[in-house]
Amino acid sequence: MKIAVLTSGGDAPGMNAAIRAVVRSGTMYGHEVYGVKDGYKGLVEDEMILLTHQSVSGMLSKGGTFLGTSRLPEFKEIEVRQKAIDNLKARDIEALITIGGDGTYRGAMELAKMGLKVIGLPGTIDNDIPGTDFTIGFSTAVQTIVDAIDKLRDTSSSHQRVSIIEVMGRHSGDLAVYAGICGGAEFIITPENPMDKADMVAKIKKYKGEGRRHAIIVITEKILDVHALAEEITEATGFSSRATVLGYIQRGGQPCPEDRILGSRMGTYAVELLNDDIYGVCVGIRDSRMVHLPFANIIGQKRPKNELYSLVKKIS
Ligand code: F6P
Repeated sequence: MKIAVLTSGGDAPGMNAAIRAVVRSGTMYGHEVYGVKDGYKGLVEDEMILLTHQSVSGMLSKGGTFLGTSRLPEFKEIEVRQKAIDNLKARDIEALITIGGDGTYRGAMELAKMGLKVIGLPGTIDNDIPGTDFTIGFSTAVQTIVDAIDKLRDTSSSHQRVSIIEVMGRHSGDLAVYAGICGGAEFIITPENPMDKADMVAKIKKYKGEGRRHAIIVITEKILDVHALAEEITEATGFSSRATVLGYIQRGGQPCPEDRILGSRMGTYAVELLNDDIYGVCVGIRDSRMVHLPFANIIGQKRPKNELYSLVKKIS
């Protein structure tokens, strides 16, 4: 069978491990694997290359995605998707493996409805995809954030400051919660765990009175202006505060072992699903096992609230 693979949406460390696994296991099972450049854009523009065992050599340890990625809002239009399907048909490519987040899944489900054999792999640092305990790239991003928190604590402590750290996650607080717990944050504010400003101000005043030299606040992006919050805290508590927006650094870097393994397992599992004539599904990891669910069961669903959220209140 001829299989195409693409990465789409925000890149995530471990995407290369997943592509490599699709190529290596795919060729091992006798398939031909084509890499699509820059996500759905490459499907529409017919930018695809045959990938061999050798073409993915050395990719396991590389961050980003060597195929490139993009966001293509026009993919919502049926004519644009039809072009993509026509391009695949012209090359006799029967199946597509997409690696990405929510937007990628939506595009994949629409292609599946149009008759293409599609499998989705969850690749995003946000860990916001239902049907999987973890997404490819999340663990590495947590590590990157923890490294930043550790460094920010050093300087906060030297200057006796409250450090506010804004992390990514879009509408999910998992990055903030996991990294905040690992980094010993005093406060973790996420969409699921809203800020109680009065309580926070009272506690920071108390810390100041006790002579504490630092406090760490980790907050998910898109909630509030962190620089304005730093000014408010300084004024209200007398504990000097500064904000750092970590930004795109969270998406880069060498994938950690968990993401290399997750990408390798998911990429191989996707090929094995196709071998068994299963498609129109997305892959997940549940209790350390590979699972798959139809796109319709995943898209638009909410992830259950992670039990770590309750830990925050008990140990912060
Ligand atoms: O979905 C991954 C993510 O990094 C989010 O955390 C963030 O909100 C968004 O992508 C940023 O996207 P863009 O690269 O389009 O600015």
